[in-house]
Amino acid sequence: MVKISPSILSCDFANLKNDIDTVIADIDYIHIDVMDGLFVNNISFGIPVIKSIRPHFTKLFDTHLMIVNPERYIDAFSNAGADLITFHIEATEDSNKVINMIHEKGLKAGISLRPKTKVEELIPYLDKIELVLVMSVEPGFGGQEFDPSAIEKIKWLKEYKMTHNLNYEIEVDGGINDITGKLCKDAGADVLVSGSYIFKAVNRKEKIELLK
Ligand code: DX5
Ligand code: ZN
Repeated sequence: MVKISPSILSCDFANLKNDIDTVIADIDYIHIDVMDGLFVNNISFGIPVIKSIRPHFTKLFDTHLMIVNPERYIDAFSNAGADLITFHIEATEDSNKVINMIHEKGLKAGISLRPKTKVEELIPYLDKIELVLVMSVEPGFGGQEFDPSAIEKIKWLKEYKMTHNLNYEIEVDGGINDITGKLCKDAGADVLVSGSYIFKAVNRKEKIELLK
């Protein structure tokens, strides 16, 4: 069964804990989108918000850093309570250094790529990380349309994982609903991130079941 990681970017921030409470029993990870206004145009939220919600939830904090030079903040996100830190290959000159920093904190490391970045660019890191996050929208905003180029990347990553006997999870993020989610799952995705499809729904539990 595919894992579900709802993106809290689509929550009502005045009501964040209650919004997460409405889905927590049915989900696997909590997807936390951090944006710095540089790597992406948008600014979302950061370390104090993660720190505030951490004591209330035991599920894995799936932290997606859309920030320039993530190596500057690995300590801070680790201290705030991240369990998995995913950074963008386009955001750093030294992906190996970022991966090592995350592992030195005892956390899981994930690597992500924008829709226009070739999946082969990840090859040097695939035996070092625990998760690959395939972006199926241009990072920056929730509620965008799914980019089907993600499907080929997921298939490639699945094939590469099998032939090289690797263990990373394949996660996909952006425009995921019951239809696009099924395409991704069939292509080999292990984890579906979903923001607006879940949090804008009246019956969130039903939407999560449909994704699964
Ligand atoms: C986009 C974020 C996504 C986004 C997904 O930059 O990384 O996690 O919140 O939102 P939906 O599911 O609405 O596309
Ligand atoms: Zn995300």
